[in-house]
Amino acid sequence: MHYALVTGTDHGIGLELARQLLSRGYYVTACRLRPQEEAIDALCAGNPGRMQVLTLDISQDESVKQMAQAVERATPCLDLLINNAGILGDMAKTVGDELDFDEMLRVFNVNALGPLRVTNALAAHLLRGEEKKIINLSSEAGSIQDCWREGWFGYCMSKAANNMQGALVQNALRRGGVRVVQMHPGHVATYMRGHLDTTARITPDLSAAGILRVALDTAWPASDRPLFLDEQGNTLKY
Ligand SMILES: NC(=O)c1ccc[n+]([C@@H]2O[C@H](COP(=O)([O-])OP(=O)(O)OC[C@H]3O[C@@H](n4cnc5c(N)ncnc54)[C@H](OP(=O)(O)O)[C@@H]3O)[C@@H](O)[C@H]2O)c1
Repeated sequence: MHYALVTGTDHGIGLELARQLLSRGYYVTACRLRPQEEAIDALCAGNPGRMQVLTLDISQDESVKQMAQAVERATPCLDLLINNAGILGDMAKTVGDELDFDEMLRVFNVNALGPLRVTNALAAHLLRGEEKKIINLSSEAGSIQDCWREGWFGYCMSKAANNMQGALVQNALRRGGVRVVQMHPGHVATYMRGHLDTTARITPDLSAAGILRVALDTAWPASDRPLFLDEQGNTLKY
């Protein structure tokens, strides 16, 4: 049995990742933010003995600590960690506007520090696994070289920082065999904007299928840096 953990499985890409990992034979720890989000409960009921559902807020130290303890009690190791949870924040304001720095701090705490909290708490468990893979859901919006937006400060800056934490984690853990991929999932029709994003190119199930093909079915080239890939395996620029 191989063991995977996905954060942010309330709905969207995270829920699809959990579903498809089960189909691929993984034991899945699904971490949702809100217990009232019940789609994952149905999945759990349909896969007895193959799933653990936990409540997790990646912006809170104590919540992450309790999650890691529950994971270590239930599973012998972790093979694949997918840091999927994230939030968007303001998309409208630009420099010179009345910017909401408290909101940016909240976005940063989730998107940049959240994955690091989770990886930090689970690193020892991951080192016990066979696959030793970390997939961080970053974004093309985190690319500094390809930046075209004039705002989305919290989101873009936090995803660039997410890329940096991925690089630092790979540097620290590569001697133990851990590899990190920073992943842009495509432009996906989810409710991240507070409503269904009808301008999106692909559905969550197609995005999740692409992410797992890249994560599990593709031989990754050797690299000192985490690969920065989209869900079709194309390389993005940092
Ligand atoms: N959709 C896209 O086009 C796109 C593009 C590039 C990158 N991404 C990235 O892909 C990932 C998944 O996004 P998505 O499109 O599937 O959006 P989504 O449906 O909003 O999913 C994000 C998930 O993260 C959860 N979450 C939010 N704050 C959290 C916290 N503090 N702790 C734990 N979980 C938390 C959300 O819970 P609630 O919704 O219940 O609050 C939700 O389940 C994100 O990291 C996002 O930045 C998405």
